[in-house]
Amino acid sequence: MSDLKKLFIKTYGCQMNVYDSERMAEAMAPEGYVVTEDAGEADLVLLNTCHIREKAGDKLYSDLGRLRPLKDARPDLKIGVAGCIAQAEGAEIMRRVPMVDLVVGPQAYHRLPALVRGAGDPVDTDFPVESKFDLLPVRKGKRGPTAFLTVQEGCDKFCAFCVVPYTRGAEVSRPVDRVLAEAQGLVERGVKDLTLLGQNVNAYHGQRDGADVGLAQLIGALAKIDGLERLRYTTSHPNDMADDLIEAHGTQPKLMPYLHLPVQSGSDRILKAMNRKHTAESYLRLIERFRDARPDILLTSDFIVGFPGETDADFEATLDLIRTVGFGMAYSFKYSARPGTPAAEKPELPAEVADARLQTLQALITKQQRAAQDAMVGRECHVLYEKAGRMPGQMVGKSDHLMAVHVTDATGQVGDLVRVKVTGASTNSLAAVPVV
Ligand code: 5AD
Ligand code: SF4
Repeated sequence: MSDLKKLFIKTYGCQMNVYDSERMAEAMAPEGYVVTEDAGEADLVLLNTCHIREKAGDKLYSDLGRLRPLKDARPDLKIGVAGCIAQAEGAEIMRRVPMVDLVVGPQAYHRLPALVRGAGDPVDTDFPVESKFDLLPVRKGKRGPTAFLTVQEGCDKFCAFCVVPYTRGAEVSRPVDRVLAEAQGLVERGVKDLTLLGQNVNAYHGQRDGADVGLAQLIGALAKIDGLERLRYTTSHPNDMADDLIEAHGTQPKLMPYLHLPVQSGSDRILKAMNRKHTAESYLRLIERFRDARPDILLTSDFIVGFPGETDADFEATLDLIRTVGFGMAYSFKYSARPGTPAAEKPELPAEVADARLQTLQALITKQQRAAQDAMVGRECHVLYEKAGRMPGQMVGKSDHLMAVHVTDATGQVGDLVRVKVTGASTNSLAAVPVV
C-alpha cells in the first residue's frame, strides 16, 4: 500500500477561495496528500466555505450532512471546515456538527498541516501578524495557463451589508518582491494569464525597498516578466481608483481591456445607506475615464437588489445606471441579511418584491451581455487555450475581454495564445477560427 493520502477540497464562493484551496493543497503535499476529485476515497475532506450570503452558508451544513455516511463508514476520515464560515462561526461549527475534526480560518492556512496532524487547538481562527502565504510551501511542476494570485486581502470599507471586513479582516498587502517571486514561479510552470486578487485589490499598497508601491506600479513590474502575457485584477472599489491605474489601461499592453467594478446600486440614497461612500455620478465619471483610456474596455459589475428601504424609484435609478453604462456581464444578488452587519438591523423588503426586481435586472443585464457578445462577431481578438473542446478539433479559452471562445483549431495546444476571428456569438460564448 502506498503511504500517499488523498485530499478532497470543495471550494465555495469567490476566486480568492479558489486560490486559497490551491494553496491549501500545496501546503498538504509535503505531508503526503495528493488531491482527489472523489470525496469517497479521501482521507481528508476540506470544505472551503463562503459566508457572503445566507444561501452560501446553508450549503456547508447540507454538505456536512452528506458526508456523514462516509465518516460513519471510516471514522479515520478527517473533515475540516475552512474559509469564511470557519472564521465567522469557529468552534460553533464543531458544537453543531461534532464529526468535524478541525476548523481553520482564512488567516491560518499555514497552520493547516499541524492541525491535521492533531497538534494544538483544532479551531484556529486567529488573525496572525505573519503573512500566511509566505509560510506556505509552493509546488513545482507544470500547471494550466491561467492562475490567480492574491496580492491583497481584507477590507476596511465596511459596506453596511457585507461580512468580508469581519471574516477576512483588515486590508493587508503582500510585499512586491513576494508577489513578483510567486508570479515568476507560476510563469515557469506555464502560466501566461494572471489575475491579481484582493477584496480591495486597487487599494494595494505593497512595500518595495521601503517605498510604497500601488497597483499600477505592481502591474508595471509584473508586466516585465517574460512569458507572462496577460494581466487582470479583481475586485476593485470605485473610491480607490488611482490616476496611474486608469492610465495603465491605455499604456500597458499586457493589461487586458477588462474591468470588474462593483457599483451595487444606482440610487444615491441606497448607496449612502449601504455606506458605499460613492455616488452614481462619481461611478459614471470613473467609467468615462476608463473608456477614455481604453475605448474597448469591457465593464462588469455587482448589484444588490432589495436592500432595506429600496423603493421602486431607487430600483429604477439602478436600471438607469445599467442602461447608461452598458455592461458586458454582471453578478446580481438579492440582498441577504448577514448577522453582525449594520444592515441586518433594518427591516427587510418582502421577498416577492426583491425577487421581481432581481428578475428585471437580470433580464436587462442578459440583454446587454448578449449585445456585447454579438458585437464581437466579425472582429479579431486573442484567445488563450485552456482545454480541448467537446467537439474534435476544437479548443476552448478566453478572449482578451474574458469571454469564453470555442475555436476550430485541429492543431491547437493548451497554452497557445492565438489570434482568431469571431464567427458567431451566443450569450455565454463565442465561436471563432484562427487568423492565418
Ligand atoms: N447580500 C447580497 N449580496 C451581497 N454581496 C455582498 N454581501 C451581500 C449580502 N449581504 C455581494 C456584493 C458583492 C459581491 C461579492 O457579493 O454585490 O460585491
Ligand atoms: Fe464587502 Fe467589498 Fe464593501 Fe469591502 S468593499 S465591505 S469586500 S462589498
